[in-house]
Amino acid sequence: MPPKISLTRYLVEQQRMDGHIPPELRLLLEVVARACKSISQAVNKGALGGVLGTAGSENVQGEIQKKLDIIANEVLIEANEWGGHLAAMASEEMDGIYLVPNRYPQGEYLLLFDPLDGSSNIDVNVSIGTIFSVLKKPDDRAGVEEQDFMQAGNRQVAAGYCVYGPQTMLVLTVGDGVAMFTLDREQGSFVLTAENVRIPEDTSEFAINMSNMRHWDVPVKRYIDECLQGREGPRGKDFNMRWIASMVSDVHRILIRGGVFMYPWDNREPKKAGKLRLMYEANPMSWLVEQAGGVASNGKQRILDIQPTKLHERVSVILGSKNEVDRVTGYHAKL
Ligand code: AHG
Ligand code: MN
Ligand code: MN
Repeated sequence: MPPKISLTRYLVEQQRMDGHIPPELRLLLEVVARACKSISQAVNKGALGGVLGTAGSENVQGEIQKKLDIIANEVLIEANEWGGHLAAMASEEMDGIYLVPNRYPQGEYLLLFDPLDGSSNIDVNVSIGTIFSVLKKPDDRAGVEEQDFMQAGNRQVAAGYCVYGPQTMLVLTVGDGVAMFTLDREQGSFVLTAENVRIPEDTSEFAINMSNMRHWDVPVKRYIDECLQGREGPRGKDFNMRWIASMVSDVHRILIRGGVFMYPWDNREPKKAGKLRLMYEANPMSWLVEQAGGVASNGKQRILDIQPTKLHERVSVILGSKNEVDRVTGYHAKL
């Protein structure tokens, strides 16, 4: 049996390769992974740890916060604020940016996260996750402000997620493909279990919340309608559908066996670009998908090229197997 490669060893080797990742970024990613281990512990305890249920508060986006949303947010902040590698953090669960307190040294990285993705699945024991994205402060100026976070996803230096499912897995890119690590609970470490992940270009599986069908735009309706017609329709084959309602789990499945995931704009709230958040969800997932040979678009534009204008910006998301995403964006172009 070949030796097990831990996340630490993987990162050290990435660091050695042509300056792929600097030591401070390696430290940052190790700390994020450690925080994910703690969150995984809390998730695993469930009712025994008193972590289920709502917290009785709302986040800045008007969503009811679950206890685990808040616990995961605190774990990530506490783990990351003292290491000296970060300048500031931003989270789906916090109104503004979180500056590293003065008593700690300041680094040059910015960390963004969705501490707990798939909140509606917490209390029903279905897979949930943590999504993270790392940017670099744009210049050497002292101090940091919200404007420093307004960088397109193509400027990310690392991105990934941790899925708390039957196995806890950390999935990561530093721009050199996608690697997957499985948590070995006896050893307490993440072990490399898949490398150079590739998303098949073709698929017969889609993921979308079908209950919103009547609210969708014409191109999305057309695409799903053609899938539903199966072998008798224009696509000439049957399609399967999956919707876990945790983006982390839906994207994880797509990275492993292909598929197309969509949370498109819909006319329930026409002024909102979409439901999912650009900086905490769409950007990190889009980079992972692209690094695995897939495509990520808002229908009209590559997600990674969108210039954000605010921290909690939302976006329409279509991502996954190349040929299917190209088809959906092609339908948008014909509109
Ligand atoms: P979060 O729990 O961080 O708010 O994100 C939930 C997101 C995403 O993970 C998932 O794909 C989608 O919301 C599910 O939405 P619906 O409940 O509308 O299907
Ligand atoms: Mn989320
Ligand atoms: Mn969340």
